[in-house]
Amino acid sequence: MSALPGSPEAAATTGLDDSPVQPAPADLPPLTDQTRLEAREIIARYPQARSALLPMLHLVQSYQGYVSPEGVALCAEELRLTKAEVGAVATFYTMYKRRPTGRHLVSVCTNTLCSVLGGQRIMDALSADLGVHHDETAADGSITLEHAECLAACDYAPVVTVDYEFYDQQDVAGARELVAALRRGEKPLPTRGAPLTDFRGISRQLAGFSQYGDAAAARDAIDAPGALEPTLAGLRLAVERGESAPAMPTGTPSEPADAGEPRETVRPSGRTGETPGEEAADARVAAADNPAERAGAAQAHPDKGAEYGRGRPPGGLDQQGTDTPAGTEPGTSGQGPGKA
Ligand code: FES
Repeated sequence: MSALPGSPEAAATTGLDDSPVQPAPADLPPLTDQTRLEAREIIARYPQARSALLPMLHLVQSYQGYVSPEGVALCAEELRLTKAEVGAVATFYTMYKRRPTGRHLVSVCTNTLCSVLGGQRIMDALSADLGVHHDETAADGSITLEHAECLAACDYAPVVTVDYEFYDQQDVAGARELVAALRRGEKPLPTRGAPLTDFRGISRQLAGFSQYGDAAAARDAIDAPGALEPTLAGLRLAVERGESAPAMPTGTPSEPADAGEPRETVRPSGRTGETPGEEAADARVAAADNPAERAGAAQAHPDKGAEYGRGRPPGGLDQQGTDTPAGTEPGTSGQGPGKA
């Protein structure tokens, strides 16, 4: 028998109930044949069926607002997995909710940078206004509040997201007004990115389906204006200084850098025996037009040989598995510095 972690069966077996998946509330809309058809459409996108599990879980959330026991069962059936396997994935990632969510999911970054700039104060204020703590839903069903780890937008700290759309550089007053507007049924425009929909809508998008009624609405969402100043600052500086990124390597993408035996070729330097990958890397180093690009290209060279500052280990990288000499990298299994 398989049992979903946190389910009554699992709790009965293990005595642990620390990861509960809440039973379905009475008014939860059932999953339908359409859900199953869409799940199969997701599966068809992947060479290995089980790779479809993550978007399928988002699909379940788009219908039911959380990963319900019914949704776990559907994923398990369609993927020929056990419910325990599906549950293990669903309970590992924080984007999969174990309890029904509100109409909107409000995430407040309380990681270091946001926190010192006011993120924790925002979380505390919203928690008081809504009468809930982390991962709880307001009584009116409007908002699920959660604290989040770094949302990868530290240049806009402190950051709040609603249904994963960004509201940058918030303060307590602004965040309170944002949440009050959401509770009134309004959808304030995010600072950047697509217009706000709701948690089920964005879940559908994450499952790989459009959450918009027609192509024009989807296009409008993609083209929505946004304030991207901090993110674009580096690009603007690079343009002012005339800097550019190294060109993407060209050539046959399917050919591994060190595939096959070295070909006997004669390079301008007179050296022979280079592989195609090494030749391409040499060309990139030679074409680099500033020291930073040259260093980057040399670093990516497949053999990083003496010419670029490092000796090639005997037998080559393929045999060694790493270009870090054994015993020089603390913390690696069996390779740390020897005891005195
Ligand atoms: S610390 Fe908040 S976005 Fe990085």
